[in-house]
Amino acid sequence: MSVQFGMVGMGTMGANLVRNMLSHGYSVAVTDVNAELIEQFTAECGSAAVVGVRDIAALLAELESPRRVFVLVPAGNPVESVIGELLSHMSVDDVILECGNSHFADTQQRQALCAEHGVHLLGVGISGGAEGALKGPSLMPGGSAHAWESVKCVLESLAAVADGPCVDYIGTGGSGHYVKMVHNGIEYAVMQLIAEAYHILSACGGFEPRELANVFAEWNSGRLESFLVEITAKIFERKDDLAEGFLVDKILDTAAQKGTGKWTAQESYNVGVAVPCISAAVEARIVSALKESRIAAASQRTECSSACDSNACCSDSKDALIAEVESALYGAVLVSYAQGMALLSAASAEYDWQLKLGTVARVWRGGCIIRAGLLADIQRSYSKKPDLANLMDDTEFSARLWQSVPAWRKMVTRAVN
Ligand code: 6PG
Repeated sequence: MSVQFGMVGMGTMGANLVRNMLSHGYSVAVTDVNAELIEQFTAECGSAAVVGVRDIAALLAELESPRRVFVLVPAGNPVESVIGELLSHMSVDDVILECGNSHFADTQQRQALCAEHGVHLLGVGISGGAEGALKGPSLMPGGSAHAWESVKCVLESLAAVADGPCVDYIGTGGSGHYVKMVHNGIEYAVMQLIAEAYHILSACGGFEPRELANVFAEWNSGRLESFLVEITAKIFERKDDLAEGFLVDKILDTAAQKGTGKWTAQESYNVGVAVPCISAAVEARIVSALKESRIAAASQRTECSSACDSNACCSDSKDALIAEVESALYGAVLVSYAQGMALLSAASAEYDWQLKLGTVARVWRGGCIIRAGLLADIQRSYSKKPDLANLMDDTEFSARLWQSVPAWRKMVTRAVN
């Protein structure tokens, strides 16, 4: 009866979060529907601080009271069934930390169900993938403030650090999962913009993977400094391990999606905020997946529609093209973050969450996929003016945007040509 925390779900994310907890001196009871995962993990750890158990009832029997249980199973039915099982064994004041990419409305329904049992459910957005879970993710907990107080210490020790731990209480209800959803919407937009910047440099400028690696690495040491730009530079350097050449040249132009970007676009209509960079990124993914139709359509094109104005497309020097794409990318990235923050601002009013957008920006500064130097400036803007409806109302951001406009216009024209 003395283990501090429980973990349900020992896939890559769950196991790494437990490793993170163990490295901070916490004791954890762990379970998973796949008994092999438990055996492997406990054998690998060989630590008295981790207790592997066969099911949820046994897990709860190990924990100190009030019981605090992390759930890291896929969103949807698996989350639903684990919460149902937990509720049938939990007592008043126990806390569930549901860390999946769950839809905020589902989280709110589950919170209401838990409340009937006196159990608190925190919907915890977690970002940073498997490595983040191990070394320090960004965490976005929403739900009961009382439950937050009981898990604040552990979450603060697990989180990445950038101007303090990258976690804070987000707000009531499903606000934590909502903020994670918008994080992912921004992630979709920035990934699409990076893909387009790559395409212009490669298709119009004739840049090779090694040159692209240098360009992105250079950008990452300037105002575009961010995790996504950093890993893009590294991807360009990677050789194909099965054949000659670079990996990037072998990757199909198709991408799947799990749904959080789509939810962000849908939510933008619900609260009446336009997030065109995010919506366009979701649409680009949908179109990207239609590979066969796109190949068939391309084979039908006529001489006229395939004609490219090579002068307008390709005449500038490589250095001029790099500067233009950097400026256009920076402007579009700024706008993507601004759209995500504007959606959060409107949602906060709509759902009465009283979100602190400066806090959200701070929590995103480390550990998460959209971490970027820019977030320190965004945090500062919201600290100066917490009720800023749109980042572009801030004179500093507006000036940066207008500075990007000439290059942006030129690049759009180039892309059309
Ligand atoms: C993270 C990521 C992670 C994942 C999303 C989006 O913050 O660690 O956002 O949650 O990238 O699930 O996945 P898709 O791009 O496949 O929809």
